[in-house]
Amino acid sequence: MSAKGTCRVTFLPGGQQADARIGATLLDTAQRAKAPVRTRCGGVAGCLMCKVSVAPEHRAALTEPTDAERRKLGPLLDEGMRLSCQARIRGPLSVTVPEDPLKAAVRRLLEQQQNEDGWL
Ligand code: FES
Repeated sequence: MSAKGTCRVTFLPGGQQADARIGATLLDTAQRAKAPVRTRCGGVAGCLMCKVSVAPEHRAALTEPTDAERRKLGPLLDEGMRLSCQARIRGPLSVTVPEDPLKAAVRRLLEQQQNEDGWL
């Protein structure tokens, strides 16, 4: 725990950190930490862009999945995905922010090009 009623949250792979109020959403905390968690729906479980991955040893540091998360994520919940706009913080933890899909596509194309050109 950090200050009374707060705890440290780390966003990987960038390492951004923020002290969060117990009960705050991961999305609010990510925005305060300037972690690259995306949102389009404003935090109402509508866009699914705010997904983060939570390792098994950190899952108890979040509230139980909401009904909206269960509906939207389905089996991804079992793999540790959470909607950061729905998951509320209960204790210190680290979460992993997935790579932006567009950046991932560009990175894959560049890697493919490098392989084809014999750069690697
Ligand atoms: S911010 Fe849109 S689903 Fe979480």
